[in-house]
Amino acid sequence: MSNIIITGGAGFIGSCLVRWMVKSYPNYKIIVVDKLTYAGNLENLKDVESASNYAFEKGDITDRGFVEAVFKKHAVDGVMHLAAESHVDRSIMGPEEFLRTNILGTFTLLDAARHAWKDSQGRNMFLNVSTDEVYGSLGEIGAFTEKSQYAPNSPYSASKASADHLVRAYYKTYGLNALTTNCSNNYGPYQFPEKLIPVVILNAIEGKPIPVYGEGKNVRDWLHVEDHAAAIDLVFHKGRAGEVYNIGSDNEWKNIDIVMLICRILDELRPASKPHDRLIKFVTDRPGHDLRYAIDPAKVTNELGWRPLIKFEDGLRSTVKWYLDNLDWCSRVRSGEYAAYYEKNYSGR
Ligand code: NAD
Ligand code: DAU
Repeated sequence: MSNIIITGGAGFIGSCLVRWMVKSYPNYKIIVVDKLTYAGNLENLKDVESASNYAFEKGDITDRGFVEAVFKKHAVDGVMHLAAESHVDRSIMGPEEFLRTNILGTFTLLDAARHAWKDSQGRNMFLNVSTDEVYGSLGEIGAFTEKSQYAPNSPYSASKASADHLVRAYYKTYGLNALTTNCSNNYGPYQFPEKLIPVVILNAIEGKPIPVYGEGKNVRDWLHVEDHAAAIDLVFHKGRAGEVYNIGSDNEWKNIDIVMLICRILDELRPASKPHDRLIKFVTDRPGHDLRYAIDPAKVTNELGWRPLIKFEDGLRSTVKWYLDNLDWCSRVRSGEYAAYYEKNYSGR
């Protein structure tokens, strides 16, 4: 494959993957397709904007005419599909956009690929980047495998689950070379400051309350975004069409513990008059809040040899440092509709 679309390439994980692919494959053309919603930002792609193997196409993945034109213009033979509405709290406030982008958008891409590739299936690949949230919530023990039952609990995860089913159906029905990865929580640079880790860092340094939902006992399995990009690259090139690969790094943390750890790192890197953990505020829980996610990565490890390389304590410290060094980026991406979103999500909690 040589001409690869990365949808959602201006977002958090997408931009990391674009940096990774542009650098790793100088002979490919990497084409970012992105609508540039509140979460997409061309600044995230500044490291690659002058690379000769990079192109950008602004548009909506639900727009069939636009998607078909991109396939034709760039003779696209591979798709890494990341474009999505990605924040659970926003899906609770307004599910419709999630259904439109995540379900209809995935369908539009799959169907355009099916038509564009009808005579060249063997050489193509469509990789759908999905989430562990499609499996629902775990109890105290166990981990999600590729055989775990789908049981999504939020409008976000239900929309991602629908997209995964469409990918499977296009493989089974039309023989489209397609597969899905289901990954755990990512962290790292350029994550939009609506997600837990950047919310904690930015509120702490601004002296604002650090909102912890419920009792902070929910557990997430954290993976550095660069380890995720490496896994996507590997599965795209070596994974078997029609298969599903779970991606995660056996790195479970209770929310309150990760919040305390970030506060300790900040006490060291940016000391305030009092410890940052004094700002922690337990607030009303997220409706339908999944208790625990954990991924069993045995398949991707045993079959393809993927292993995470970044130790969590190192990755978290460098992430905190990245935010401290990039406060201008934070204020620019928060300057749009962010204030209204923040008020709606957190006031009265
Ligand atoms: P993000 O919200 O940071 O970025 C999403 C990107 O998609 C943005 O650039 C946005 O402009 C673009 N986009 C949204 N709607 C679009 C549309 N209709 N047409 C074209 N572009 C559109 O998301 P992220 O955290 O980088 O997640 C990327 C993907 O990975 C998503 O599919 C998400 O479900 C999945 N995922 C995320 C995580 C995580 O922890 N963040 C974990 C597992 C899987
Ligand atoms: O598991 C993969 C998923 O991880 C991805 O599919 C999603 O796109 C991504 O947003 C993420 O979902 P979460 O809901 O787990 O991430 P978030 O950062 O929103 O929340 C992490 C945990 O922290 C969760 O238990 C809710 C809690 N939380 C979150 C926020 C924003 C708080 O306690 N306070 C907060 O202010």
